[in-house]
Amino acid sequence: MRIIIKPDATEVGTWVANYVIDKIKAAGDNTKRPFVLGLPTGSSPISTYKELVSRHKKGEVSFRNVVTFNMDEYVGLPEDHSESYHSFMFDNLFSSIDIPRENINILNGNASNLDKECEDYEKRIQQYGGVDLFLGGIGPDGHIAFNEPGSSLSSRTRVKTLRYDTIVANSRFFGGDLSKVPTKALTVGVGTVMDAREVLIIITGYNKARALREVVEGGISHMWTVSILQMHPKGIIVCDEASTLELRVETVKYFKDIENDTRF
Ligand code: GLP
Repeated sequence: MRIIIKPDATEVGTWVANYVIDKIKAAGDNTKRPFVLGLPTGSSPISTYKELVSRHKKGEVSFRNVVTFNMDEYVGLPEDHSESYHSFMFDNLFSSIDIPRENINILNGNASNLDKECEDYEKRIQQYGGVDLFLGGIGPDGHIAFNEPGSSLSSRTRVKTLRYDTIVANSRFFGGDLSKVPTKALTVGVGTVMDAREVLIIITGYNKARALREVVEGGISHMWTVSILQMHPKGIIVCDEASTLELRVETVKYFKDIENDTRF
């Protein structure tokens, strides 16, 4: 696993955006084999999305040959609700770049048959040949997408009931009113994310420090679902200094030394 430590969230966003842009460019413009990118919502990827939009506006990157799959969506929230993940993605990224509408895939939390919606989503990912790069964030309890503690580490896309802590955390987007936060979501599984050829997790802020410690220094556990990243052949964590505060000094120094070593 690579761990990239940057001073703050802005520099994290710049690093991740550069990484994504390099991958999109390397994939070229072969429309028969688009670049397949998995995407998260939340505050963690915002600096990355800002940078991607800015670089697109400067003419440095096109998303015409990119296909996206979002991680999750609330169940029962109208797509045009300001807090739906559909709205989040269009407001923060899709409306400001040149990605064709038909290349955007987001789970439909209002589908009449939610199980079928999840099965179809997995099939669609397969039809594109799998995800090339899955970006993700994590919750303070180390959950990825909506795979909360105790989720199977081989889980697939499915309906999940949200735990109370997540509902409380997300109530900030619903005027602090717990009763307005959806109690269920559709989410890709831990296994779905792990199938991607590369997985890049963005972790910022002191409130994620414990989770980062568990993921890097702890063992693999379904109680910290993102810890499965230890098994991925190409897993990268890009984090800020604040999130490293619970790591051992030795761990931080080790990963910084590796990244700074210019001999390789
Ligand atoms: C939600 C999302 C996750 C996200 C997490 C953390 O639970 N389903 O995908 O990683 O929130 O969000 P934030 O980046 O705002 O801390």
